[in-house]
Amino acid sequence: MRKKIVAGNWKMNLTKNEGLLLVEGVLNGVGDTDTKVILGVPFPFISDAVSGVDGSAISVAAQNCHQEEKGAFTGEVSVEMLKSFGAEYCIVGHSERRQYFGETDELINQKIQRLLASGIIPIYCCGESLEERESERHFKVMEEQIQSALQGFQKDELKKIVIAYEPVWAIGTGVTATPEQAQEMHKFIREKLAQVLVDEAEEVSILYGGSVKPNNAKELFSQKDIDGGLIGGASLSAPDFLEIIHSF
Ligand code: 13P
Repeated sequence: MRKKIVAGNWKMNLTKNEGLLLVEGVLNGVGDTDTKVILGVPFPFISDAVSGVDGSAISVAAQNCHQEEKGAFTGEVSVEMLKSFGAEYCIVGHSERRQYFGETDELINQKIQRLLASGIIPIYCCGESLEERESERHFKVMEEQIQSALQGFQKDELKKIVIAYEPVWAIGTGVTATPEQAQEMHKFIREKLAQVLVDEAEEVSILYGGSVKPNNAKELFSQKDIDGGLIGGASLSAPDFLEIIHSF
């Protein structure tokens, strides 16, 4: 049985008190669930978020990391730092990082290597743009993103990675992929993983991200190859995020 996961991605939102209230709200409402809950918080929140969820099954994720071990990289944050502050997961390859910070599959591959070496679980984001889907290149683009960012990993490393399929046209737009569109791509991604992992591709959690809301989560999560969600806007409201967690 693969893990069901609901991860929030706060992106660059919330001040300290707002963040603390949100952590408390999620903690108080999560109850008994077999869904793995992850809070993807900005760097300054990691320490407080880790303390806030202490003693619960909730984990904290960073939203980025640097690919080098340490050194003269002013303003950057290393994987070892994240680990020492208690982050257990790290989002990498988000389309906003690709689009606004020029991150390439090659760079993302290096970040994933660094994370795996330190025992932090990468949440690898991939997804096509609207133009790529409209010109029917979405499968090709996804194949490239899966193959180049995930190349060179041994089977036992690859199966630790969480994948998040986030079609760029669905992020923050209110336009969600239909359950059928999402399922079709998740199945395709799993088939690509199976080229390396064979049967163990069945153990990899593949999350959907892009305008997941309380009113559409249930249908998305009921698809065979959708193992949960990476939630942006709706993860900033404890009631909405909790409702999504409880939609399995
Ligand atoms: P939204 O849920 O706001 O569309 O964001 C999705 C996302 O980018 C999560 O990483």
